[in-house]
Amino acid sequence: IQRVGVLTSGGDAPGMNAALRAVVRKGIYHGLEVYGINRGYEGLIHGEIQQMSVGSVADIVLRGGTILKTARSEEMRTVEGQQKALEQLHKMRLDALVVIGGDGSFRGAQTLVAQGIQIVGIPGTIDNDIAGTDLTIGFDTATNTVVDAVSKIRDTASSHERTFLVEVMGRNCGNIALQAGLACGAESILVPEIPFDLDEISDKLKRGHQRGKNHSIILVSEGVGSVYEIGKELRTRSGFETRITILGHLQRGGNPSALDAVIAAAMGGKAIEILLANDTNRMTAYINQTVVSCPLDAAYGARRPFDRDLYDLANELSI
Ligand code: F6P
Repeated sequence: IQRVGVLTSGGDAPGMNAALRAVVRKGIYHGLEVYGINRGYEGLIHGEIQQMSVGSVADIVLRGGTILKTARSEEMRTVEGQQKALEQLHKMRLDALVVIGGDGSFRGAQTLVAQGIQIVGIPGTIDNDIAGTDLTIGFDTATNTVVDAVSKIRDTASSHERTFLVEVMGRNCGNIALQAGLACGAESILVPEIPFDLDEISDKLKRGHQRGKNHSIILVSEGVGSVYEIGKELRTRSGFETRITILGHLQRGGNPSALDAVIAAAMGGKAIEILLANDTNRMTAYINQTVVSCPLDAAYGARRPFDRDLYDLANELSI
């Protein structure tokens, strides 16, 4: 290979820039030409492509977001869109593409493999919902952001003796709620993977109150339903005053943590190694503290298992 394209796609995640920097610099180090594609597949389909240099990724290693910009491309889901993407790759004489994003982004990429494009996926999403890797780029930072926010909310919750329901991201998965909830000692954690019983939660609040506990934090993953409805119902059943905080997109911003920046760099480097070895249809994965290569379809061959043991532990610790 000689000319490699790189794009970021789907929801942005802290550390994407560090991964991009590694792809560009390691690629150039090994004599490749690296081309940045703006706005994910949207930019690919519409030809928004420019050559990257060592300097074009300077000063971005710890910057949140993605300098390439990103998009959720509906067009790439269509055969026509995929055809246009392929035409642009041919026009730019790009024989390989590195896709930094989630499983939806990888599916788009895989349609290009059959057309002879060398593809490597780098898992980047705050949700940590990609099968085949222990961690995705951005999850650690987002979880730390939630922990920081919850510790501030605890101050006011405790002063006013209130129960706070804090909604966190995770479209269909409770990974952020679980990890952040355990880290900050949330009284309850609601996730889409496990059914919950509001009477039990209400009883737990009452038990805590009898012991002298004057406030509570309940982490609610966005995938479980309306946090406003849950808050209202809990107030009715428990009699405690509730407040709602939706952390929303602030979870997607900020400098990457050291862990995310390191994983991102290692994955970017591994992606280039995979391409230089003439391998294709692969994904970089973080397994047992090492960045390795695995088949791209590991990302959606099965759902990433939810850590039930950790969830049970969190429950036991918040009796
Ligand atoms: O996939 C990452 C994520 O942040 C999810 O947690 C969330 O449900 C979704 O993206 C929000 O997407 P958007 O920014 O397009 O509204």
